[in-house]
Amino acid sequence: MKAFGVIALGALSATALAETIHTKVAILGGGVSGISAALNLTLNGVNDFVLVEARDELAGRAQTKKLGNTTIELGCNWVQGLGTNPINELSLKYGLKTTNTDYGDVSYIDQDGTAMGLNIFIFRFDGLYGKMQDMGLKRLADGEVDISGRTGLSLAGWMPETPMDSAIEYFAYDWETGETPEVSSMDFSALNGVAYSSDFGPDADHDRMVIDQRGFKYIFQKEAQRVFKKNDKRLKLNTKVKSIAYNKNSVTITTDKDTIIADYAITTFSLGVLQHRDVKWVPEMPDWKLEGLFGFHMATYTKIFLEFPTKFWDNTEFTLYANPTRGLHSAWQNMNAPNYFPNKEGNYIFMVTVTQDYSYHVEAMTDSQVQDELMGVLKKMYGDKIPNPTGIIVPRWHSNPLFRGSYSNWPIGELDQHHENMIAPLHNRVFFAGEAMSKRYFGFLQGAWTTGANAASAVNQCLKKKCPTATYYPKLYNAKSKGDKVKRDIV
Ligand SMILES: Cc1cc2nc3c(=O)[nH]c(=O)nc-3n(C[C@H](O)[C@H](O)[C@H](O)COP(=O)(O)OP(=O)(O)OC[C@H]3O[C@@H](n4cnc5c(N)ncnc54)[C@H](O)[C@@H]3O)c2cc1C
Ligand SMILES: *[C@@H]1O[C@H](CO)[C@@H](O)[C@H](O)[C@H]1NC(C)=O
Ligand SMILES: *[C@@H]1O[C@H](CO)[C@@H](O)[C@H](O)[C@H]1NC(C)=O
Repeated sequence: MKAFGVIALGALSATALAETIHTKVAILGGGVSGISAALNLTLNGVNDFVLVEARDELAGRAQTKKLGNTTIELGCNWVQGLGTNPINELSLKYGLKTTNTDYGDVSYIDQDGTAMGLNIFIFRFDGLYGKMQDMGLKRLADGEVDISGRTGLSLAGWMPETPMDSAIEYFAYDWETGETPEVSSMDFSALNGVAYSSDFGPDADHDRMVIDQRGFKYIFQKEAQRVFKKNDKRLKLNTKVKSIAYNKNSVTITTDKDTIIADYAITTFSLGVLQHRDVKWVPEMPDWKLEGLFGFHMATYTKIFLEFPTKFWDNTEFTLYANPTRGLHSAWQNMNAPNYFPNKEGNYIFMVTVTQDYSYHVEAMTDSQVQDELMGVLKKMYGDKIPNPTGIIVPRWHSNPLFRGSYSNWPIGELDQHHENMIAPLHNRVFFAGEAMSKRYFGFLQGAWTTGANAASAVNQCLKKKCPTATYYPKLYNAKSKGDKVKRDIV
C-alpha cells in the first residue's frame, strides 16, 4: 500500500513538472545567432517565442575564462571586418576594448632554436595568397568548378620547401580557415575573405582583437537584455533539446525539462552538432539536406594559453617556430605585446594555436600532458632555463557536445547548391540559422548574426501568411557538359 502510494505520487509529480508550452516561435540555441533571431522578432513586434539554451548563459561560442588576473577568450576573439559589420557596430556601441593586430610583427625561430631575421617571408606568401584569392573570385564569377586551396596556392606559385615555409603557410592559411589548404575550397575561401573586407564599406578591411575584461560575450548579452527582462519565462537556460519533430503544421521540441509545441522553429545549433546527430530529428531530415550538412566541414581551432612568472619570449606580437611537423605548436602569440594585456608580474601569457588533427591530439590529453609537450617545444625554442608555467587553459571545442568544433570551413567538393540545401527550411516550419548557414560570412560572428536575423525575418513573414519561397535541389548533377573542349592533333 505504502509502496503503491509512493509510485503514484512519483508519477504524478513527473507529469506535473514536464510542462507543455505552446508558442509561435521556438529559437533553439542561445549563441549569437539565437540572440540575433530573438532581437529581430522583438523589433518586429513578435513577442510570443521561447529561446532554449543548454548552457547557463547566452552567447554560445563567445566564452571567457580567467588565467591569473586576466580574462581570456576561449572562443571568438577578433572583430573581423570593421565598418558596418554588425559585430563592429555592437563593439562600438558598447565601447568594447579592442586592439590592433599586426600580422607582420613576427619573430621567426628555426627548428634548432636559432632566431631568423626573415620578415620578408610572410610578405611573399601574402602576395601569392592575394593572387590565389583573385583567381578564386574570377572562377566563381565565371562559374568554373572549384579547386582546393592547395591547387590554388600552387598555381599562384607558392611551393613551401622548408619547415619555416610551412610554418608561415600554416599561420596565414590554417590559422584563419581552421583547416589545411588541401581540404579547403579555393573559391569560397576567397569569397569569405573578400566579403569581410569589402561588404562593410571602405574602412572594413581590418580586424580588432578583443581584450575587454568583460569578455567578447558582453556585447551579445547586452543585446539579449533588450529582449529578455529579468526572470523572463521565455528564456530557458540550462535546458537541453533532445528531439525535434516537425510536420507541415507545427514543430514539437522535446527538451530534458519539457515539451514545446511551436508554429515555427529556428535552429541555430552548430554544424558540428547537426552532423553529430546530437539532436534527434523526427522524421529524419531528407537526404538532399543531409548531403549538404555532412559535406560541409566543422573545423577545430584551439588556442592554448600558458601563464608564466616571467616573460622569456620576443616582444613581437607573433612568433613562428619552424617545427618540422607542419601545424604542430608553430604559431605563438604574445598576449603581452604592446597594446595587448598589460605586463603584470606573474601573469605573462603566451598562447599557441593548433587546429584539426592536432586539436584532437591535444583534446585527448590531460592539461598536464599538454603542458609537458608544450614545454618540450618551448625549450627547443628558448633553451632549458625557462620557468615552468603557473597556469594553463586548454579549450576542448571538438569533444564538447554543444559545439563539436570551433567554426565551419567550406571544403572542396561542397557546391553552392549543397549549401543552399543546408539552409533550406523543412516544410517552411523549421528554419536554419547559425554561422555555417552564411554563404559569405561562414565561420565569422557576422555570419551567426545575419543568419539569425534572416531566419527570424522569414518566420515573421510566415506568421503574416506570406512565407518566402524556399528553394532546394533534390538532386545535384555535375557540370561536365559545360566545359570547353578543344580538339588538337597529337604533337
Ligand atoms: C576558438 C574559436 C575562435 C573563433 N574566432 C573567431 C573570431 O576571431 N572572429 C569571429 O568572427 N568568429 C570567431 N569564431 C566563430 C564564432 O565564435 C562563431 O561564428 C559564432 O559564435 C557562432 O554563433 P552561433 O550562434 O552560430 O553558434 P553557437 O555559438 O554554437 O550557438 C549555438 C548554441 O546552441 C547551444 N546548444 C547546442 N546544442 C544544444 C542542445 N541540444 N540543446 C540546447 N542548446 C544547445 C550551444 O550551447 C550554443 O550556445 C571563433 C570560434 C571559436 C570556437
Ligand atoms: C591579482 O590581483 C590581486 C588583487 O588585485 C593581487 O593581489 C594579485 O597579486 C594579482 N595577481 C597577479 C598574478 O597579478
Ligand atoms: C530583421 O532581419 C531582416 C533580415 O536580415 C532585416 O532586413 C531587418 O531589417 C531586420 N529587422 C529589424 C527590425 O532589425
